[in-house]
Amino acid sequence: MSEHRPDQHTVLGAIALANRAPSVHNTQPWRWLLGNDSIHLVADQTRRLPVTDPDGRDLLLSCGAALHHLRVALGALGWRAIVHRLLNPGDPDHLAAVELVSKIPSTEDIKLVGAISRRRTDRRRFTSWPVPDGHLDLMVRRAAKAGALLFPVTDRFTRRRLTRAIGQGGTPSAGRPVLCGGVGHLERPQPCHAGRCARCQHSGGTADPRGHHYARVPGWHSPRSGDRPR
Ligand SMILES: Cc1cc2nc3c(=O)[nH]c(=O)nc-3n(C[C@H](O)[C@H](O)[C@H](O)COP(=O)(O)O)c2cc1C
Repeated sequence: MSEHRPDQHTVLGAIALANRAPSVHNTQPWRWLLGNDSIHLVADQTRRLPVTDPDGRDLLLSCGAALHHLRVALGALGWRAIVHRLLNPGDPDHLAAVELVSKIPSTEDIKLVGAISRRRTDRRRFTSWPVPDGHLDLMVRRAAKAGALLFPVTDRFTRRRLTRAIGQGGTPSAGRPVLCGGVGHLERPQPCHAGRCARCQHSGGTADPRGHHYARVPGWHSPRSGDRPR
């Protein structure tokens, strides 16, 4: 280890924590490449879900979450991550190069890294309890610090519009396959053999040879190979 270069143990430890980031359908659509003094994040297009994510936005958001987790992990291990985004016009999948500078971890760094292993997606029903204003403000500030815009939707009118838009977004268009369960029922992939599992039988759907489920949609009989989720 030098001032500009963590040892391999540190780098692999940080990557292991980064890999715990949330990702769409838990696809983890990223790869890490190690340079001499840098870590590179590459989008793994073979893990994109063409049916639900045709333009790769979910894939990109997932990679962003992994990059965020990498920065948090490195911070706690004593390395400030300087991120250079999309630096290679010839390769749009080369999303970021991370340069490292040694630093003393702060109490905040240690607190944040502890959250990586505690965090998980919570799919329980929302309660009617209001989110405290302090939490909303903190989330807005944290998002801004990460270069993102978080916009709390608190008034009834905008909420109704948003609910409607989400509902429309979840409606399958004719002739397109949809994943069993759809939004709100994403799970780690379950093995299924020829549509014999309870989920496929319930929905009248089927599964491909890799055990991925499809619901039945009028006008659509079997998934095309190009439409398979991974
Ligand atoms: C871009 C993106 C989109 C996601 N969309 C959904 C969704 O529509 N419904 C859902 O229940 N979970 C969604 N998730 C959560 C993932 O399914 C979840 O992160 C993944 O299964 C890993 O589980 P974990 O977050 O508990 O580690 C999404 C996650 C990401 C990053």
